[in-house]
Formats: sequence, structure tokens, C-alpha cells
Amino acid sequence: MSAQILSGKEVASSVLATLKPKVKKLNPRLVVVQVGDDPGSTSYIKQKIKSSEEVGIRSECRHLPEQISEKELLEVVHALNHDQDVTGFIVQLPLPAHLKNSVSKVIRAIDPAKDVDGFHPVNLGKTFVGPEFEDLPPATPAGIILMLEYYNIPVEGKHVVVVGHSNIVGKPLALMFLNRNATVTVCHKYTKDLASFTRQADILCTAVGKAGLITKEMVKPGAVVIDIGTSRTENGLKGDVDFASVKEIASAITPVPGGVGPMTVASLIRNCVRASEMQNQTPR
Ligand code: GUN
Repeated sequence: MSAQILSGKEVASSVLATLKPKVKKLNPRLVVVQVGDDPGSTSYIKQKIKSSEEVGIRSECRHLPEQISEKELLEVVHALNHDQDVTGFIVQLPLPAHLKNSVSKVIRAIDPAKDVDGFHPVNLGKTFVGPEFEDLPPATPAGIILMLEYYNIPVEGKHVVVVGHSNIVGKPLALMFLNRNATVTVCHKYTKDLASFTRQADILCTAVGKAGLITKEMVKPGAVVIDIGTSRTENGLKGDVDFASVKEIASAITPVPGGVGPMTVASLIRNCVRASEMQNQTPR
């Protein structure tokens, strides 16, 4: 039997439709900061701006030169923090190689009230405490939770295995599942015998960026498979999961592209609306 395809495009358009009236009332403004010309980033940013405009959010990309120094980038962040007409902003990652060690400093410099990516330690910390404190949760994990809710896929009591332990996806995703009473296992590149863990998953989430990492033999029949990884290959954008074979044994699966990607964008936009509500003290 072939798995149900979980369409991020469909869920995202439903989420965005609910945001439209709020946008009309609040008139938020989103800025995306891009440093350099990473082609992957350019394509993600286009999608973020396009979807924001579709719901009526004023949005723009602030494109900065590849060679910018850490100090100059921090000045841009400070200016956006203080600009009263900017509701929320993000600094698109990855940063160029010479700024690799500046990422956490740059993220920590963002005003948590404008951190619509949900990457600031204050927002990650609130996510740690419980669902009622997830005001500006990290965009990709929040998008995955929204998607499971939309398809009525239960989480409580399920064994969720998350592969990947980054600060912006794997770790907060594990916490958000824990907040919803799942039993959670986190695997990463130092995990020995990965398959012995992935085969136990009722819900398997993978965020590694290695095309074809998860094969059919690593998946329990009937599992829900959420593919967060993306790799640009000569055959186009690929996920971590060998989609063709895994869809034959999973009960539900996200495609790449068209799965988690649109959900990240939708939850970024939801965060921008929420940031606006909090800044204006409008109840949700
Ligand atoms: N690079 C890949 N995904 C993301 C994201 O969700 N936000 C930012 N800022 N950079 C990214």
C-alpha cells in the first residue's frame, strides 16, 4: 500500500488563509536579511517574500555584500531592532564562511520580540517550558507540528525518533514533541547503528541533509515519515528519505519539495503576525 502524501503546500495555504484578516488589521512588516549570494538562500527567500506578499504582509529582502564584517552585520541587526516600522526580521542562514563563527552572536543580537525565526535563546527557552509558552517557536519544528495537527495524526504516547540535533530544527523539534507527550529519541551523526533506532519510530523525522540516508529497511511498516533534510543534487532538490521505496511501507510521508518547506514559510509568517499581536498587545 502506498503512503498518504502529506502536502505542505495544502496545509500552508490553509494556515495562510487564516492569517489574512489579522494581517489586514495589524499591517505587519517583515525584513529578510541576506548576506552574499548562496543560491539555496536566494530561492528560500523568494518563497518567503512571495508568500508574505500573498497574505498582504509588507516584506522585503535586505541584501548585504558577501564580504560584510561581523561588526557591520551587527549594526544592521541593531538598526532593525530599533526601527519601529519593522515587526519582525530574520537573518537567512547559512552565513558566508568568514562569518561561520558569528552565527550565534548575530542570533543573540536580534530583539527576541522581533525574532520571527524563533532562533533566539529566549524563544527557544520558552519552547522548552511548554506549549503555552511557544509564542514565537522555531519555524520549521512549529510547521511540522501544524502539519500533523492538520492531518489529525496523533502524537501523544507515540515514539518519535528525530535524526539530527541542530539548535534550529532537531533539538527544538524533539522538545515540541515532548511538550505533546510523545516518547522522544534524538539521533545524530555520532549515533551508533542508526537503523536500530529509526526502525522503532512511529513518527520518524529526519533533518540531516544527506540525500537517500533513510532507506526502506530503516522504517517500521506503517510509520509516519517527515523529511526535513534538503540536498541540491544534479537531479534537483532531494530529501533525506529514499521517497520511492519508503512511501511503499510508510502510512504517511512528506515529499521534498512540497512537504516541510512550505510549512517553514507558513510558520515564519504566523510568527510575524504573532509578533505584531504581541507588540500591539492584541490577544491572539
Ligand atoms: N536556512 C535554512 N532554513 C532557515 C530558516 O528557517 N531560517 C533562516 N534564517 N535560515 C535558514
